[in-house]
Amino acid sequence: MRWIEVNDYQEMSRQAASLFEQQLLRKPDSVLGLATGGTPLGFYEELVRKYKQGYFSFSEVKTFNLDEYVGLASNESTSYHNYMEENLFSQIDISPDNIHLPNGLAEDLLAECAHYEQLIQQYGGIDLQLLGIGVNGHIGFNEPGTSFHSATHIVTLAEETRIENSKYFHTKQEVPRYAITMGIETIMQAKQIVLLAFGEHKMASIKRIQQDGMSEDFPASCLKEHPNVTIIYGK
Ligand code: PGA
Repeated sequence: MRWIEVNDYQEMSRQAASLFEQQLLRKPDSVLGLATGGTPLGFYEELVRKYKQGYFSFSEVKTFNLDEYVGLASNESTSYHNYMEENLFSQIDISPDNIHLPNGLAEDLLAECAHYEQLIQQYGGIDLQLLGIGVNGHIGFNEPGTSFHSATHIVTLAEETRIENSKYFHTKQEVPRYAITMGIETIMQAKQIVLLAFGEHKMASIKRIQQDGMSEDFPASCLKEHPNVTIIYGK
């Protein structure tokens, strides 16, 4: 595990964008695993800025997002489809055919999970996966107690996650109760992983990865077994 402590949010965003830049220069048709949330906003800004300056292209890139809420249409402002469109996809030269997020409106959600998992394998797996971390140690929407052997699946969101994410909704009641997420095993199969954490409230989670052993009670602890993880963190 590689640990990079940064002094400010900008530096975290720049360091992460630089790892993605290196990946895209090495392999222009990379399969990227993407994340949503407040933490990576600066990273996406930096990535778009570098793209616009001509450092790299997304014309051959394929993306898979970690998760999506169940029950939100892709054009709803709080959906992760919409987040990605606004913060990245609408600003780069990626082909819409190469963008993948779980479909939280699928009639058969179990079939959707199996299909998503199979699609990732079909593209040869994820080359570089971006992660945030929840205050309860979740990665994607894999809440405490999720099996380390899980594939893409439907989750019931933890109460603390719904409270944490309610800032993006008008009321807490509006926060969906279910989501589809890549599983821990899906994430662990990525060839390289970058986890971002910024702010005082995230430091306890970072310490737990650093100091504690692996436990399904703390999903991010699985990363200790991954051969190529970079954690970029600061407060
Ligand atoms: P945040 O979410 O970036 O909005 O803090 C991270 C997460 O919950 O995984």
